Amino acid sequence: MMKGFLISGVVLGCLLIAAAGLVLVPNSLGQGLIGQAKARGYLAYTPEEATELAYRRCTTCHSDEKILLYCARCGPPFIVVTHFMKKYVEVTNLQVGAKAVVQFTDAELAAITQVWNGLVGNWEDDWPARDIKKLLGRDKALIRLFDTPPNQRPIEAVLKHKTAPGSYKEIQG
Ligand code: HEC
Repeated sequence: MMKGFLISGVVLGCLLIAAAGLVLVPNSLGQGLIGQAKARGYLAYTPEEATELAYRRCTTCHSDEKILLYCARCGPPFIVVTHFMKKYVEVTNLQVGAKAVVQFTDAELAAITQVWNGLVGNWEDDWPARDIKKLLGRDKALIRLFDTPPNQRPIEAVLKHKTAPGSYKEIQG
């Protein structure tokens, strides 16, 4: 009698844990999947999500000040800078000897580039397209972005009307 009670208690316990798992797992799994789908470019980032992503991912190695104070006189447009940050991620990971910094996916970098272009400034027109493409090398995703007029880039077009606190917006002539 006591044994039967214990067993049914254990069975009930297992059922409860399984039920809780059914409720909890698809939820967290779902969020992970959506995030992964966006990072892979299957789903688009909203401008708000892209902004959060840009601030989070671009401040792993230096402060946001480096980005907010970056300007047309400082160097090439953001599309070139973000492309080169991938190299810095590689170098950092080689030095640390582990995947200390998660590499940017194509979709992440295309979204992030639009964020800084929109909030801080886009001076792609100041540079010969040929030079920019040369610097982008074989980065197909960013070349595709470069070939898209800024007002047709969904995130950049929205954020163009905003300014990031702490930055001096570059207005392209
Ligand atoms: C793996 C580390 C790392 C990550 C992640 C990273 N950066 Fe950098 N960043 C560097 C290093 C290293 C430099 C060059 C040294 C310095 O200026 O501190 C740099 C420099 C810069 C500069 C100054 C460039 C110049 O010519 O003055 C800007 C702007 C910049 N990063 C923007 C970004 C943006 C935007 C992102 C996100 C896409 C990003 N960084 C992500 C490491 C990183």
